[in-house]
Amino acid sequence: MEHTFIMIKPDGVQRGLVGEIIGRFEKKGFSLKGLKLLTVDQAFAEKHYADLSAKPFFNGLVEYIISGPVVAMVWEGKNVVTTGRKIIGATNPAESAPGTIRGDFAIDIGRNVIHGSDAVESAKKEIALWFPEGVANWSSSLHPWIYE
Ligand code: PPS
Repeated sequence: MEHTFIMIKPDGVQRGLVGEIIGRFEKKGFSLKGLKLLTVDQAFAEKHYADLSAKPFFNGLVEYIISGPVVAMVWEGKNVVTTGRKIIGATNPAESAPGTIRGDFAIDIGRNVIHGSDAVESAKKEIALWFPEGVANWSSSLHPWIYE
């Protein structure tokens, strides 16, 4: 089964969107394998966003991510990386479709509520960074009702 890394950013936590966001992934049929609330420091945020270090928005993005607690999660399911990104919506909320998390709850790109891995390989790297202790090993009893 595929895994993805999902992070509810500080604005999502402060705005009380944690339950709403988890509910959307659960109701889709995905399984929660890892979950923690934590505040990361600058070095950690810079590592997570290392690929973007040359971007003009990099410093602002790092400041935003370290500004309060985030919810880090690992979700499991068939095509969860791609489908998770669809549930989240386009990066810029001005372009996110209604019905997506960013389309429903965000306005500015620099306050876009949630992060999701963009590929299976980056998901592996991000899960290793955020969950060095590993994640839960359990299988949902609902699988026969979700997968054919
Ligand atoms: S890029 O430029 O195409 O590599 O960027 P993109 O893939 O669209 O987005 C990568 C992450 O950078 C965040 N981002 C921004 N943050 C603040 N301000 C601006 N202008 C901005 N542009 C992009 C974007 O939300 C992505 O973060 P994550 O956490 O992956 O969603």
